[in-house]
Parts: sequence; C-alpha cells; structure tokens
Amino acid sequence: MDKQNEKINSVHGGDIYSDGIFKGYELLDFSSNINPIGISNSFKENILEGIKNAELYPDIHYRELKANLIHYLNKAYITKENIVLGNGAAEIIDLVISCFKSITIAVPSFAEYEIDAKKWGCEVKFSTRSDTMELVYDDILNKFKTTDAVIIGNPNNPDGSLIDKEKFMPIIKYAEETGKTIIIDEAFIEFAYSGANSYISELKEYKCIFIIRALTKFFGMPGIRFGYGISKDNALISEIIRKQNPWNINCFAELAVKYVLRDEGYINKSREWIKEEINYLPKALEKISFIQKVYPTNCNFILCKLKNFNGSRLYNLCLEKGIVIRKASNFRGLDDNFVRFAIKDRDKNNKLVEALKDIEEAL
Ligand SMILES: Cc1ncc(COP(=O)(O)O)c(C=O)c1O
Repeated sequence: MDKQNEKINSVHGGDIYSDGIFKGYELLDFSSNINPIGISNSFKENILEGIKNAELYPDIHYRELKANLIHYLNKAYITKENIVLGNGAAEIIDLVISCFKSITIAVPSFAEYEIDAKKWGCEVKFSTRSDTMELVYDDILNKFKTTDAVIIGNPNNPDGSLIDKEKFMPIIKYAEETGKTIIIDEAFIEFAYSGANSYISELKEYKCIFIIRALTKFFGMPGIRFGYGISKDNALISEIIRKQNPWNINCFAELAVKYVLRDEGYINKSREWIKEEINYLPKALEKISFIQKVYPTNCNFILCKLKNFNGSRLYNLCLEKGIVIRKASNFRGLDDNFVRFAIKDRDKNNKLVEALKDIEEAL
C-alpha cells in the first residue's frame, strides 16, 4: 500500500473497498455513519432534471441552491452572504482551518481537524475530553486564550455527545469579545432531533460562530459530496470563497439540495428510525460482557470501551462474520480498548448484536 493510502486508511473508518467490495463480497458496514434509509425518493424521482443540467455549467454564484438552503434553515437573519458551499463538509473544514494561524481542537474528534491544521502549518492545541467524554470547558477556554480558533463537533464524532450550551457560553462570550472564531461541526446535527441542540439560533447574536453542515450523514448521500458553512462573519465566509475553485458544487448536489431538504416524509421517517434505534442498540450492547462502557449518544453511532479485549481483535472477529466495525484507537485520546458502531436499521442492528453474542460465547 502506498503512503497516501496508508494515511487515509489509518484515520478513517473500515475500508469496505479493500476488505469487501474489491474481493467480490458484501459486508455489513457498521464503520461508517450514514442514514441506513438511503437516498430519498425525492432525489431519485428527479434525477433526470440533474442529467439535463449536466449539460450546463452551474450558476457560479449558486443563487438557487443558497435560496434552498436558506429556506431549509428557516432563519430570517441568514442571508446568501452568510453561506459558503463545499465539496462535502470536509472541504469546508479544510478551508476554514486554513484561515487561522493556531487552533484548539477538542479531542477525541474527527481526524481531519488535526490533519488539515497541520497541513496548513496551523499551530494546534488539544483539549482532551474527560473519561466520560465530557468537554472540559475551563481547559478549552484556557487553550483558546492562546489560539485563534476552536473546533468542536456537535454532536461529536466518535462519541455522539452534544455541547452543553450553558457551560459553553463563557467561551462564546470570550470569542465574541476578542474577535476569535468558534467552529462547530454539525455534520450529524439532524440526528439529534431537537432543533435546540444546534447553534443555528446563536448565529443571530454571535458573529464568532461558524457552523459546518452537510447532506452526507442524515440525508445518506456521502457520494454526492455536499457540505456548507454558515456564519455572520461575512469576511471569513469571503476569505474561504476566495480560496475555492469555481463550480465546486456539481449539478447533482444542486438537485439534492433542491429536493431532499424539503422532503418531510424522508426527514420524519429518519427521525422516527433514529429515535427507535437509539433506544434499542445501546441497551443491547450494554448486555455484552466484553463491553465495559457504552457512551451515551445523541446520534447514529455509539462509542464503546471494551473490557479485557482489544478493538483490533474484535474488528477481525467481526470481519470473519461479514461485519465491519470502526476501531477507534486512531482517534487522538483513545486507545485500542475503544470501538465505534454505527446505528443501522433493526434487522442489521440485530445481526450485529447476534455476531457479538456469538463472539462472547466463543471466548
Ligand atoms: C464529524 C464529521 N464532520 C465531517 C465529516 C466529513 O463529511 P463529508 O463527507 O460531508 O465531507 C465527517 C465524516 O466522517 C465527520 O465525521
């Protein structure tokens, strides 16, 4: 494997291409966190419109797309000037980080924050969560005092926890007073089904907040590659746009934004599914004797700490049963005692639980 592929494999989920697809068999993928309902019918039914649009360059200002996003976000204070569009949330994460000389990263978290910061020569400070995966708010504030920005997942990957809004407020106030930036990655926010969990409402009052979102996870479209950043800091939005290539969003992503964000049937069905399964799978995992701790989650994945067992061994045993799980040892702050499971539909969740029970019995 060349160095580039080694790097990609070492920081992201299970490699379903190497372990399954390229070998010609299907795997149950519990390593990536995508809505199992799949792509909405509203997208599929209108796919011909996308094919027709593929004959044209998209609108370079993406005016209709931004209007559709504003309609979805449903906040009168959000305008087109407050939005930057990306080829997945990953592009926005990369470019927003490139705008700062130093950053505090709350870890464990999505590996790209650190990779991007280092790539841009941005000095990094880490604020490690407690054993219960809670943010250490005082520590974040202290580290933020010597850096330009802070980035936190809400909900956070890999544990699914949300920011405690009350405890976080002094950090927001500090950023607002000093002109610093708080980047909040809400790539999974739609799974945390109460709108109050998002920082969208705080954008009205606080220019220091920059939110990242995507169609990738909740709308089940990782292949479409669509994400966006929202902030009242128009200078920061413009700085990112200046760094982008023109026409970075293709016509199928435009089509997706137009149809799936208005698809209430899909949204409601997805919310009902996550509500059911978030109450089911963690409880089933708690009954497995080699799982020491199931961290409470607010979205579609579950971090677990293993007891007298390591994640690499569990990964291999699950793979033998056709299931890919996420080893979590490569998240900064975690080790090989941790694994992460995606939440799927009931049938697949049961297959995972059965496989874990079989492994337990064979111990
Ligand atoms: C927290 C978080 N943010 C962003 C991303 C990247 O999303 P996208 O595929 O839209 O680039 C991921 C992908 O796993 C993620 O876990």
